Amino acid sequence: NIMPIILSGGSGKRLWPLSHKQHPKQYLSLVSDKSILQETILRLDGLNNFMDPMIICNIDHRFLVAQQCREIGIKSPTILLEPIGKNTAPAIAAAALQSIKQSDDIILFVLSADHIIQDIKTFHKTVYIAIKQAQAGKLVTFGIVPTQANINYGYIKSSEINIDGAYQVEKFIEKPNLKTAESYLEQDNYFWNSGIFVFQANTLINELTIYSPDIIKSVNKAVDNAILDFDFIRLDKQAFTKSPSDSIDYALMEKSSHVVVVPLDARWNDIGSWSALYNIGTKDSNNNVISGNVFTKDTINTYINANHHMVATLGVENLIIVNTLDVTFIASQDKVKEIKSIVVKLQNSN
Ligand code: GDD
Ligand code: MG
Repeated sequence: NIMPIILSGGSGKRLWPLSHKQHPKQYLSLVSDKSILQETILRLDGLNNFMDPMIICNIDHRFLVAQQCREIGIKSPTILLEPIGKNTAPAIAAAALQSIKQSDDIILFVLSADHIIQDIKTFHKTVYIAIKQAQAGKLVTFGIVPTQANINYGYIKSSEINIDGAYQVEKFIEKPNLKTAESYLEQDNYFWNSGIFVFQANTLINELTIYSPDIIKSVNKAVDNAILDFDFIRLDKQAFTKSPSDSIDYALMEKSSHVVVVPLDARWNDIGSWSALYNIGTKDSNNNVISGNVFTKDTINTYINANHHMVATLGVENLIIVNTLDVTFIASQDKVKEIKSIVVKLQNSN
């Protein structure tokens, strides 16, 4: 009884202007002809004895999610609808409380909808290791060996002793500052948190009841009073809105003593930003990553996504260029990490 839970309620601000509120990044085809959500679901193919996934997303995107499931042949997904985004802790709590209605000993395999994983075989092997740990009552995280002091990730300090493929977590630090991240990078017992988790629904509910009782209280009500709308499950708006907003990393992973980490070495990437898409993209002979209608001359180290109208460049380097029907975004590679600040400003001025 293993149920994949796909968290699909983020807004993907850092991939603006392609990703926006009405059409967040997980529903875009950024690395293949499939959307990232579809890639996430298809990556489960071949895992034995897994149930159809539960997808938890904002109510505004329900038809998009249902359509994207149909397109890849997922006939009976459970689609859980949030009236408002409250970050990942309430979303996971809702999934857990909903799933135990089906079966009391269900194991949840929680996935983000903004990852790509290239080595599927290793990924699946690692998932089986994690499931064993979850059966023993652990909250399992998947750890990635860090390659840079990235402050958008959680960091996991692991113990030295490996038991059945997992290490005890000594400390979990969500999104540290740059100096701290740099110091972790120098030591060799730190992982990045991949944001993929495995645990029994009951373990999760019990631990959250200890560390974030207000979330469990509101979400429990929201699940109890949920209504079935065709095949969609609508969480109760009034109750869910009362829940505090928090990520599972802060609400639980930093606090619980039952967390273990299983190393994942499967060419994992969070494609949360334009520079991530540049890094994983196929480079031309000038180190450019190009998609769409593009003409370049004397252009190097540049990412261009021009699926709406033509982009021509001459004599530029280290840029990110992205267009939509109504916006052209141009940034330098080393400044693009500050994109959120302009997206927020633009939203406020509209
Ligand atoms: N349903 C729902 N509701 N999903 C949400 C919500 C919400 O309110 N907020 C975010 N999500 C989804 C996103 O769509 C994404 O698939 C996943 O939850 C993770 O959220 P992000 O907002 O992308 O988190 P992050 O990337 O900043 O941080 C997390 O992932 C990192 C690795 O990618 C953390 O777990 C970090 O510790 C981790 O390193
Ligand atoms: Mg992310």
